Amino acid sequence: MPTLLARSPITPAVTRPEGVRVRPLPRVIGADVPVPVRDGRRVPYANFDYAASAPCLEAVHEAVTRALPYYSSVHRGAGYASQVTTAAYEDARETVRSFLGAWRRSAVVFTRNTTDSMNLLAHAVPAGTSVVVFESEHHASLLPWKRAVRLPAPATPAEALSAADRALRGCPIGSRLLVVTAASNVTGELWPIEELAHVAHRNGARIAVDAAQLVPHRPLDMTALGLDYVAFSGHKLYAPFGAGVLAGRADWLRAAEPYLRGGGASASVGETTRWAPSAEQRHEAGSPNVLGALALAAACETLSPDWDELAAREEALVARLRLGLATLPHVRELTLWGERAPRVGIVSFTVDGWNARDVALTLSDEHGVGVRDGKFCAHPFVRHLLGEDRSAVRASIGIGTDEEHIDRLLTALAALTAR
Ligand code: ALA
Repeated sequence: MPTLLARSPITPAVTRPEGVRVRPLPRVIGADVPVPVRDGRRVPYANFDYAASAPCLEAVHEAVTRALPYYSSVHRGAGYASQVTTAAYEDARETVRSFLGAWRRSAVVFTRNTTDSMNLLAHAVPAGTSVVVFESEHHASLLPWKRAVRLPAPATPAEALSAADRALRGCPIGSRLLVVTAASNVTGELWPIEELAHVAHRNGARIAVDAAQLVPHRPLDMTALGLDYVAFSGHKLYAPFGAGVLAGRADWLRAAEPYLRGGGASASVGETTRWAPSAEQRHEAGSPNVLGALALAAACETLSPDWDELAAREEALVARLRLGLATLPHVRELTLWGERAPRVGIVSFTVDGWNARDVALTLSDEHGVGVRDGKFCAHPFVRHLLGEDRSAVRASIGIGTDEEHIDRLLTALAALTAR
């Protein structure tokens, strides 16, 4: 049976004569795509919107192309192509499990995205579960819960631990869940998820981590960190084919009603319906998004061997960007925990005298720079950071970003603020 996810022959590992193994870094499609600017030129696109939707990795595109000739039904057919596709889909699940360092008995459910994953978890928590969440969360983690204790954005990581501890201790007897992001989609700041997992567990709670903005930038080991649930999206992980993941403890998921009722979720249907006992089958009714799952797994396989280099490269680019922004007198970076807080490649800022939409449109129209403006689906948090109901500009970077992009953004902001 062909292995659909095998590494592409187009990007082989290269061996230098002296025996040092060098692998070309992963590449994204469209890193240099030309875009029009107002004066009639076309310039290479400087994409600073990775945190919303990252471009496709070349290796992901190749994996999907290799899979397409065998594309067929999953868990439903006896033909060769169905067997290949079913095996590839289940292999993809195992690849994701290993990418996340998930325990071998954890559930790994393919969803549409992080929002879908968190809604699935909200659907599956036992009735009466006390949910605790910080108001600094992205809406995908803030909104799915019918009732939740909302904690104010903490002034320090230590305050995050003490506030979570107090809130969980005060919850009524019964199941408890702490929901928290691993890296903020507004400031890029890293949250102390390992310590928060300890706090949750010593209060008899579970922890669910929104890792959508972490996994495109850093490795994550659920078992080592003691995380009960992790959610993330393929479209932020260079796999824009519509799949996401909820991974974690299987018991609540196995006991819950199916997220969608239909074929695949059912074990037998007659006068009454018996639902499939496994968490994955139970919550993946209908034909699954097999190409999405394969794409996501290909991204996991592509990034895993190169974390050290990718993270070091990103840190240098973020430092260049933030140092440059700090020299611009009218630009103010948004931060919850201060300028030295560790973060991934996400930087949001305001420009005195400008509204965020005009900044974003000017950067695009005049410089071919694509940023996001708004409140980034984190309205309470942005309001908290700015002290008013106002929008910001966000520059988020990834594998296709280079120094020229950073310098172009900085030069464009300098020109804009000098007007
Ligand atoms: N969560 C996405 C973002 O932060 C949509 O842009």
